[in-house]
Amino acid sequence: MEIVNVNLKNYSYPIYISNGILSDIGLYLRNHLRSGRAIIITDSNVSNIYLQNAEDALSKDGFVVSHLVIKAGEESKNLYTVKRLLEECFDFGLLRDSAVIALGGGVVGDIAGLVAALYMRGIDFIQIPTTLLAQVDSSVGGKVGVNLDEGKNIVGSFYQPKAVFIDTSVLKTLNKREVLGGISEIIKYGIIKDESLLNFFETNLEKILNLDDDMMRYLIKRSCEIKSDVVSKDEKENNIRAILNYGHTIGHALESITRYKKYIHGEAVAIGMYYAGKIALNRKYIDESYLLRIKNLLISCGLPVDYGNIDKYEIVKCIKHDKKNREGKMKFVLPIGYGNAEVFDVLEDEILNVLK
Ligand SMILES: NC(=O)c1ccc[n+]([C@@H]2O[C@H](COP(=O)([O-])OP(=O)(O)OC[C@H]3O[C@@H](n4cnc5c(N)ncnc54)[C@H](O)[C@@H]3O)[C@@H](O)[C@H]2O)c1
Ligand SMILES: [Zn+2]
Repeated sequence: MEIVNVNLKNYSYPIYISNGILSDIGLYLRNHLRSGRAIIITDSNVSNIYLQNAEDALSKDGFVVSHLVIKAGEESKNLYTVKRLLEECFDFGLLRDSAVIALGGGVVGDIAGLVAALYMRGIDFIQIPTTLLAQVDSSVGGKVGVNLDEGKNIVGSFYQPKAVFIDTSVLKTLNKREVLGGISEIIKYGIIKDESLLNFFETNLEKILNLDDDMMRYLIKRSCEIKSDVVSKDEKENNIRAILNYGHTIGHALESITRYKKYIHGEAVAIGMYYAGKIALNRKYIDESYLLRIKNLLISCGLPVDYGNIDKYEIVKCIKHDKKNREGKMKFVLPIGYGNAEVFDVLEDEILNVLK
């Protein structure tokens, strides 16, 4: 078992990473929760595969537990779902010392976290992330929230869980594309913070793509360490937390232009990382061989680096509307040297120059 601690003074918490930990969850939760009453929020896919196991693990350790199932998919991530879940928490008799447990991917984690933050002004929250993206990214760091019709993640809060439980065995049932979406974010950590992660990928690629458990445990642990390190220095994204958005500026634009249908998030981020790398190359922050190395790694994982025939002017227009670009400046995370990155203001022409 690996344990990564997220250090946030009064809100610090551990991330447990182990194969099969879901079956022992009750044992651990006793140390993290104030009462024996908890509700599991999950989605219509994950509930079919893992809900029974989770409920059994909790009941055998004396927890009084129930569950709420939302329809799988991003469309559920809205305030109507939150309202319904809050009402159901009340009907189940959740009290101020009860807990909400998120069992699922990033969609479930973001919704359940908001429900936990709002219910009776905030009750205990536990994350059991079941997608690779959720295990290496969304379950760590405390961002919770839902979408409005006007845009993604507009309504939300920072609400840290009491603990995160990562069971690597659940990755076996995830479809290949979802796995690659998570891999893309792990490569991101390598580029912004730890070049040795890139070496690790290059040396062990076949095993990683076959979800070898030792490999996955290492990659998830390193990712959680890097994210937790960044978050503990800047919880509310006032400055350095923004480097986690590497690849996301162009990535979000591509997702939005294609109405979230063509790419899954990690694919759009892969393309975004390559093009942000091109801007960095033009500024001589990195050399050509390093950019080629990043490109080859993404391609050999099966991730895209090309956005097809989308109009580059549309991409720039979309970036200008991004909520993260305050005062009309275009903020970009650019790699500077190996395993390092910073946030820069980038000119419109620099972006147009690297796009086709
Ligand atoms: N809070 C944050 O810091 C943060 C960071 C990144 C992304 N996000 C959010 O995360 C969401 C995306 O998360 P996601 O990629 O996990 O998507 P998701 O939660 O929609 O899960 C993807 C699909 O996989 C299924 N699934 C989940 N676990 C499974 C398993 N073990 N086996 C089989 N199927 C499984 C789900 O039912 C779903 O159909 C977005 O809404 C995004 O905004 C949040
Ligand atoms: Zn991301």
